[in-house]
Amino acid sequence: MSKKKPLVIGNWKMELSHKGEISLAKSLVGSFKGKKRSADVVVCPSFPSLSAVQTELKKVSNISIGAQNIFWDEKGAWTGQTSLPQVQSFISWCLLGHSEVRAVLGVTDAQVAALAGRLLGARINPVICIGETAQERAADATVEKIRTQVDVLLESLHRTELVRVVIAYEPIWAIGTGELPDPDDVAQVILFIRKHIAARYDQDYAERMRILYGGSIKADFAKTYVGGPLADGLLVGGASIHPQQFSTIVSEVEHVFAP
Ligand code: PGA
Repeated sequence: MSKKKPLVIGNWKMELSHKGEISLAKSLVGSFKGKKRSADVVVCPSFPSLSAVQTELKKVSNISIGAQNIFWDEKGAWTGQTSLPQVQSFISWCLLGHSEVRAVLGVTDAQVAALAGRLLGARINPVICIGETAQERAADATVEKIRTQVDVLLESLHRTELVRVVIAYEPIWAIGTGELPDPDDVAQVILFIRKHIAARYDQDYAERMRILYGGSIKADFAKTYVGGPLADGLLVGGASIHPQQFSTIVSEVEHVFAP
């Protein structure tokens, strides 16, 4: 199938205590140790646990660490926010524009694109979350929404940077709800993103970019959404805090991409 290296990201959100996150990291070390992985695997703990999780995950070489978000400004009187310079030494990946962050902080597509540029400059891989709301879906406006979000990105990023950017297509109505989109609809959105990027930039970048699916993924049907015209990997929320589920999801994705 596809020659691209699949990518599986676990977004731990704010589900666990500090102790809980360390214990999850330890369990993952247990199940990943000594395994040759054909997928890139990333976990995104909460900010306060980044350092401790990093210490645990140093025991394996096949899990990287990401942040769940960073604030758009680098420094200043921003109570409660966390900036790139504060997390840079712990992470090699960073989620941007997750719908839960957009809802709480009112982050715009332009801010997300600017942050992506800054992350790339710091050699951190941005994972940009895009997707339609239930209302947009009902109004048949999914493609329009995706086009707008991708356009903002294309306008502010240099074409050579684009290949290091990961797009996570997450229909907002599917996040944490157990409601799943038809895989054919997901394939169509992914195809649209690639075609749109190919038309604006070039076919090669559009093909090489990794596009993930995210929203209510569980181990049972992880493979339904990846490979071929579907996603190059998954952004997993709720299921990622269960080490056995997460390891199975990674194995299922690897299996689909195996030569
Ligand atoms: P979920 O979350 O898997 O719990 O739906 C996905 C996400 O928020 O990225």
